[in-house]
Amino acid sequence: MIDYRKLEPTAYNATKVPGNVWYFPRVRYRMDEYEEHPSQKPEALLDRIIRASSNPGDLVLDPFAGTFTTGAVAKRLGRRFVGIERERKYIKIGVRRLKLRRELDGELLAAPEKSHVRRNGPSAARAEADGGPRDGDAGAS
Ligand SMILES: C[S@@+](CC[C@H](N)C(=O)[O-])C[C@H]1O[C@@H](n2cnc3c(N)ncnc32)[C@H](O)[C@@H]1O
Repeated sequence: MIDYRKLEPTAYNATKVPGNVWYFPRVRYRMDEYEEHPSQKPEALLDRIIRASSNPGDLVLDPFAGTFTTGAVAKRLGRRFVGIERERKYIKIGVRRLKLRRELDGELLAAPEKSHVRRNGPSAARAEADGGPRDGDAGAS
């Protein structure tokens, strides 16, 4: 990677600047963060992108929000979030994931029952620390 801001283009210090290819494990069924979406992105990926491109309090927009991975990470990092998603089933997952409401369209928003789950993973600990969603905290839009 070349830093073209320098008077003479110079190679970046590779220990400080991420390379062109980023490696993150894909989201697997057994992971705490798994939701029922065919192309769910890893939270670690969004964590890096959001930290690198925004500050706490900033507004993060994801116009193809899916299960709101971007929103979940943005919220954890103290950013505000606007998500746009056309599939109602993914919006419901996102609303539950961001703890906005307990129900939508008369349906209780519950995490998928999994036959295998890591009960001591980081998101399990986070969920316990956060407490559950509170009805009326915020509306979904
Ligand atoms: C790659 S997925 C996003 C996955 C998301 N990052 C996650 O981790 O769950 C793209 C999403 O964009 C949605 N989408 C595609 N076209 C759209 C449109 N025109 N308006 C709103 N959402 C759209 C799809 O339904 C799909 O859920």
